[in-house]
Amino acid sequence: MSILTIVKMGNPQLASVSSPIENFSTRALYDLIQDMQDTKQEKGGVGIAAPQIGHNKRVIIFGFEYSARYPNEKPVPHTILINPIIEILCDEMVDGWEGCLSVPGLRGLVPRYKKIKYSGYDPEGSPISRIVEGFHARSVQHECDHLDGVLFPERIKEFRYFGYEDELKLAMPELANIPIKKYIEVKE
Ligand code: NI
Repeated sequence: MSILTIVKMGNPQLASVSSPIENFSTRALYDLIQDMQDTKQEKGGVGIAAPQIGHNKRVIIFGFEYSARYPNEKPVPHTILINPIIEILCDEMVDGWEGCLSVPGLRGLVPRYKKIKYSGYDPEGSPISRIVEGFHARSVQHECDHLDGVLFPERIKEFRYFGYEDELKLAMPELANIPIKKYIEVKE
């Protein structure tokens, strides 16, 4: 299919609530998924949501064996998830660095729920349900936010920990995995 242009922050499509998929196993759905996969792979993303390629539909794709964008994170299984729902299993939140193909060049420290259950459907309409933690849980929360018109900068609590990747990497080479305490030590 096609590698499409990623819609960037500022475009109203990324601030809109997407509508659910009502019919599974359709040519239109398979085409959308293929375009998302091709674009995600080309851009080296760990996940992508349909609004990022200009379709306000509740479809997300995530997963990787190794990511150059997040070199210290453990693999996440490749998953296509339609009409996803998140259930928070524990109130604890953890800080972690995030970027987004729609916010190129920037990273921010974002609190996310540590443990969640997510459910939804595959392209044929079969149910998917998993209990996950860590970066897997973070990825799903990030992608689901896209379906409700929310981008990661809106989740940042301390804007001191938001900046350009190249500058942040100079301050801390292992950007993706540095806990906030260590970051504070490095900066102060
Ligand atoms: Ni994103």
